Amino acid sequence: MGTKHGKVVTMSHGTPATDRPLTTALAEAAATAGYAPSVHNTQPWRWRVLPDSLELRMVRDRQLAATDPEGRLLALSCGAALHHARVALAAEGWVPVVERLPDAGDPELLARLTSLRHPGADPQAMHLVQCMQVRHTDRRPVSDEQIPTAAIGEITRAATGEGARLHILDSDQVMELAAAAGHAGSVEAEDPQLREELAYWTSRTGTGTGLPPEVLPEQAPQTTVPGRDFGRAGTLPIGPGHDRAAVYALLYGDEDEPDSWLRAGEALSAAWLTATRLGVSLVPLSGVVEVEGTRQTLRGVLSGMGFPYLVVRLGIADPAHAGPPHTPRLPTEQVVDTSAVGDVRP
Ligand SMILES: Cc1cc2nc3c(=O)[nH]c(=O)nc-3n(C[C@H](O)[C@H](O)[C@H](O)COP(=O)(O)O)c2cc1C
Repeated sequence: MGTKHGKVVTMSHGTPATDRPLTTALAEAAATAGYAPSVHNTQPWRWRVLPDSLELRMVRDRQLAATDPEGRLLALSCGAALHHARVALAAEGWVPVVERLPDAGDPELLARLTSLRHPGADPQAMHLVQCMQVRHTDRRPVSDEQIPTAAIGEITRAATGEGARLHILDSDQVMELAAAAGHAGSVEAEDPQLREELAYWTSRTGTGTGLPPEVLPEQAPQTTVPGRDFGRAGTLPIGPGHDRAAVYALLYGDEDEPDSWLRAGEALSAAWLTATRLGVSLVPLSGVVEVEGTRQTLRGVLSGMGFPYLVVRLGIADPAHAGPPHTPRLPTEQVVDTSAVGDVRP
């Protein structure tokens, strides 16, 4: 395969791949990655489209300096965006070589997608791109409907396929999680810096980042495992549900390093998009990993199997009432830099 002025001239088998410039596919994939979930909807990423590659950089200005000083949740969020971009490329027929943290001297460069081949559009990826457009965080309690066992298996395998694992908590472990989540909530509520940071990201109306009142519960749901206390009431009606039929799972892996956090984000995206495809709601609970003490509790739950990255709640959303609206996003031109390739509009 070669490129000339950003145009794909041949594909790996020597036949014409597509008349569409590769740079257009890269810019579109980066734009589609904007659908990815991120902690507090910070969208801490920026893409740079180059003639035959795509770079993903973190944006320190949108890191949660108090809540996430190590950048664990930032890397998880960027990993989710990276997976979204890979899937969007696959839906258009492109498969890149992905170099994660390719430059030790430039830690903000999280990934480079290069050496793109064009084996042809992947129908499964096309379906997942549709799932990106409907996926959202629904913080209401879940219904009493049980998640089919086969669905849990598929969601777990989707995470494993991206190099992190999903451990389904048993009932004793859910009680441990409930206590840890309660404790993490009170530690965070007592910390003025954390409160201030949360208040900032829950009052960003009109900026395309942060959490608007429409997606936050109007009152705390009655659940065994408490969700995040956003420090302010939203306007989302929570209905009568509970979390009796919810399944809680722990995303974890072998290392506690930026590279593994990035991969964990890719796994989160894969699991979440698969859940969406199967009609299963997924809500991340990151308070328990933000607080050092409760992150250690989760390590104990894993009893030496690895390092915890994120807790997720899985369940079937209440079908009788409308869920929250979509959370706004930054305009594409603020997160996708196409200046190196001229006039490419994703
Ligand atoms: C790493 C990470 C941590 C998150 N932690 C929480 C959380 O603790 N509680 C919560 O309600 N949502 C959490 N979320 C969901 C985000 O708030 C959500 O993805 C973002 O606001 C965008 O909204 P959307 O998912 O509906 O598109 C988290 C998401 C990510 C990627």
